[in-house]
Amino acid sequence: MKKILITGALGQIGSELTARLREVYGSQNVIATDIRQPEFSNTGTGIFEILDVTNQQDMEMLVEEYQLDTLIHLAALLSAVAEAKPQLAWDVNMNGLMNAVEVARVHGLQFFCPSSIGAFGPQTPKDHTPQVTIQRPTTMYGITKISGELLSDYYFHKFGVDTRSVRFPGLISYDTLPGGGTTDYAVDIFYEALHKKTYASFIAAGTKMDMMYMPDAIDAIIQLLEADASRLHHRNAYNISAMSVAPEDIARAIQKYLPEFELTYAVDPVRQSIAESWPNSLDVSCAVNEWGFSPKYDLDRMTKDMLKKLNKKLETSVAL
Ligand code: NAD
Ligand code: SER
Repeated sequence: MKKILITGALGQIGSELTARLREVYGSQNVIATDIRQPEFSNTGTGIFEILDVTNQQDMEMLVEEYQLDTLIHLAALLSAVAEAKPQLAWDVNMNGLMNAVEVARVHGLQFFCPSSIGAFGPQTPKDHTPQVTIQRPTTMYGITKISGELLSDYYFHKFGVDTRSVRFPGLISYDTLPGGGTTDYAVDIFYEALHKKTYASFIAAGTKMDMMYMPDAIDAIIQLLEADASRLHHRNAYNISAMSVAPEDIARAIQKYLPEFELTYAVDPVRQSIAESWPNSLDVSCAVNEWGFSPKYDLDRMTKDMLKKLNKKLETSVAL
């Protein structure tokens, strides 16, 4: 049975991951932490502690106090926020990561810190982007993500820390809003479709990016953490994705259920240029072959579920 510390647990991934891990491993075995207090409890019942990941001593004290064996390190600034605050992004994403992986080394913890499609750059092959290829990201977010991949590999080879990671695509979910990324439009579009029947996308028509529905992302984390170590040749970090979509693809999927929905564009040049530096579609075959990655939601299935769940959450009572 794992005993897990999660950093950044109140974010888009952490809130749902914490609740799910508590179901799988037991509430008392999952310690949720974040730099801020929860506004309401969406992580299920269980222990919550304030932790700023730039403070290694505090992290270490929690690991010792709760006798933990796994560290899931989610605290980070996402791509658009990191581009607006590059120095802070370096501090949280890099110094926080270094603290976390050091705590993992000293205490013999299994370690997971997600990378991203943001770890790729404009020189990366755009379509069916291979697992191992040129990366050279041009954003501060991407620089911290590729550094995280390399640092995690270094800690595995040099110190034997059991580091594992995925390159998440944009994640779409209805529980917690995303924290300031380039792919956030793919969540906003569902909220606005239900509220206003129209959405102005900050990403331009025709801009394909990889995406995945949150239940598949949570399953992937648990599956990778439980995978047979002898099969993991690529460790940090596996390409994963469930769909490659542009804004108009999501709009068409929504229109199947809400025919009156209208998509317009108000392109944000900063986030558009970040999106254009990322791949269109990833080759996920290494994740499939090495630990059985198998997402359940394609665009249509995800759209139907998102609209249903959000309709209830927002009390919009749209006839779907
Ligand atoms: P998020 O922005 O929703 O949540 C991040 C959390 O970190 C927030 O709750 C924030 O309060 C916390 N935090 C910020 N600074 C902190 C600090 N100094 N100490 C402790 N906590 C701090 O992010 P997310 O979407 O849940 O992403 C989690 C991880 O997954 C990140 O590493 C991100 O790069 C990666 N990722 C996310 C996506 C996505 O689409 N959500 C895609 C690819 C990779
Ligand atoms: N969703 C994330 C972002 O846009 C991808 O890492 O920043």
